[in-house]
Amino acid sequence: MDRLAIIGGRPLFGDIPISGAKNAAIKLMVATLLTDQSVQLSNVPDLADVRQLLRLLEQHGTHITREGDRLSLHTANIRSTEAPYDIVRKMRASFNVLGPLLAREHEAKVSLPGGCAIGARPVDLHLKALEAMGADITLDEGYVIASAKGGLHGATISFPFVSVGATEHAMLAAVLAKGTTVLENAAREPEMADLADCLNAMGAKISGAGRSTITIEGVSHLTGCQHQVLPDRIEAGAYAMAVGITGGEVTLTHGRADLLGAALASLRETGLEIEQMADGVRVKKNGERLTAVDIVTQPFPGFPTDLQALFMAMMATADGVANIKETIFENRYMHAPELARMGADIHVDGQLARVRGVDRLKGAPVMATDLRASMSLVIAGLGAEGQTMVSRLYHLDRGFEKLDQKLQNVGALVERVPDSA
Ligand code: UD1
Repeated sequence: MDRLAIIGGRPLFGDIPISGAKNAAIKLMVATLLTDQSVQLSNVPDLADVRQLLRLLEQHGTHITREGDRLSLHTANIRSTEAPYDIVRKMRASFNVLGPLLAREHEAKVSLPGGCAIGARPVDLHLKALEAMGADITLDEGYVIASAKGGLHGATISFPFVSVGATEHAMLAAVLAKGTTVLENAAREPEMADLADCLNAMGAKISGAGRSTITIEGVSHLTGCQHQVLPDRIEAGAYAMAVGITGGEVTLTHGRADLLGAALASLRETGLEIEQMADGVRVKKNGERLTAVDIVTQPFPGFPTDLQALFMAMMATADGVANIKETIFENRYMHAPELARMGADIHVDGQLARVRGVDRLKGAPVMATDLRASMSLVIAGLGAEGQTMVSRLYHLDRGFEKLDQKLQNVGALVERVPDSA
């Protein structure tokens, strides 16, 4: 397994291009199963998760053409309505093929995704939403077996708490259902509106995406379309924090500050200068130490849980004490002990983490259990004295396109060390 060697302490200067959002791209790819016509997606990042999903779509019968960041997906006929365990377990979001398969073929057999390093992550809300739309669901040997004889129908679904995946899944299923579906307490993440924009371009009738109530009037069929994936807000936040810990000035080309939600204000409060320019987001940090800032993770527009680990790394050398509260996932502090190995002073108590800023982190060999936690170790390594070796690079390859290259281009001393070295 490849590792990333980082020599810390160099300020970053230059441009980092922000890729298309992973979390939007994979839902858009799933949405293409809803039509027998060809859908062209552009600005699709080249990531392990995208490749994994392509494997799954291919076995459902999708014809795939890829040229750079452009992906053409065409599922003239669904060849198989089964999504096997060995693919779904590797990428939870692939579970969302269930809704489109059910909507188009009225039956599906999809593996349950299982747990993951950041918590149990059940799919009960997904299944309840599909049942409300008329799906008959049973569980058998780790698989969801679903059918909807005569097709799905519209329903009013009120989510007990906000779930990104369940909102998207319900939206994907409802577009071809008979009648109107209303989603209450829906997720408002920007990827939601991106998905709705694409589905509407395919002929769906969705209004309110990006707000708490989404209304979907079912249509009988969808057509092909062209859609550009929106820029990745988590990647933009990550590189902004890299500048925060190292100092320097970087333009995140194609980045959009408005997609950062509450994280924008929190990052500015620490002392980072962030400005939206015509060509992207300019991030600047002078030589002074950052100020410690408290955060609470919340659904959008609150502070995103996907930036929590990274923010903790940045706070490790800030001036003062930062109190962090993780409210979305129950087990998302796995990076804390690794950061502590680099000299961070972090005390975790349930949902809370208290980070007392130290003068300097020291490089160390570290490893992480998930994608965002791995990136927090990269941020820490960029700010640390000496060498940090981040192992299990495959986590980062799942979600950060050309990470080593992008960092090298702004002056970071990072190098991918192949397994055999
Ligand atoms: C998505 C993002 C992930 C992000 C998360 C929260 C993708 C591919 N992933 O994940 O990067 O961290 O949103 O912003 O877009 N839950 C249930 N039952 C359900 C569904 C969810 O209990 O049926 C719980 C989860 O365990 C979690 C919380 O709800 O505690 C929020 O999860 P959710 O918003 O669904 O996250 P994902 O869609 O999995």
